[in-house]
Amino acid sequence: MRLIIFGAPGAGKGTQARKICKHFDIPQIATGDMLREAIKKGTPIGDIADQYISKGELVPDIVILDLINTRISQPDCESGFLLDGFPRNLIQAKALDDSNIGIDAIVELIVSDNIIVERISGRRTHLSSGRSYHTVFNPPKVPGVDDITKEPLVQRDDDHEETVKKRLSIYNEAILEMKDFYNKKLDKIPFLDIDGTGNVAEVYAQIITKLDPTRE
Ligand code: AP5
Ligand code: MG
Repeated sequence: MRLIIFGAPGAGKGTQARKICKHFDIPQIATGDMLREAIKKGTPIGDIADQYISKGELVPDIVILDLINTRISQPDCESGFLLDGFPRNLIQAKALDDSNIGIDAIVELIVSDNIIVERISGRRTHLSSGRSYHTVFNPPKVPGVDDITKEPLVQRDDDHEETVKKRLSIYNEAILEMKDFYNKKLDKIPFLDIDGTGNVAEVYAQIITKLDPTRE
């Protein structure tokens, strides 16, 4: 299974990606999580990424393509993977297409902007793993603490109102261009539009019914 998940900032990509990856036993490749980890470690890529992420802008394509190519060539990706946060614009979509990695399906979570604001404002993140929670909709077992490592949860630096608005406007423009690109491809990839407004379990049920209709 080689999958892509699209969705606006805060639409629930990371939340659903984790469940889908567990179901198919494939790795989740989340560029945002990888970049935040690089920032935390203070690597050269992290130093570059920080300048863009903090402003809600996209990190340069050359950095992202290098990151993705390195990650996808690792042995755990041989039987598949799920891309969360990549491709992010037309250049990245074309680069992925040129690499001739067959993609089995693209899932798009559709969520309105007012719900996005609600979800992002209550989000709490475990930075090392990328696991995200919500104070109301998806709370951790102990408030402010990651369920698995018991480490503290934080609010992401780019989850402030102005930055979120910027991220949303970049996404809304890019998704139109990418959809147009995928629609025009001769070997069309199944594009699954998913109503992302229900609770986590409801959204997941819709996705898995489409991706794996034969499951027990
Ligand atoms: P990235 O980390 O990819 O952020 P994003 O796309 O803005 O998406 P988010 O992670 O904010 O949201 P999500 O959809 O994963 O939602 P989540 O599941 O957490 O990228 C960050 C930055 O990195 C970019 O701005 C850019 O600078 C850079 N970057 C990354 N990739 C790049 C690339 N390819 N090229 C260039 N730059 C790149 O859920 C959100 C909240 O809602 C949580 O609190 C969750 O608990 C809750 N929730 C989830 N589902 C539900 C539900 N069904 N009901 C109620 N609450 C829910
Ligand atoms: Mg995410």
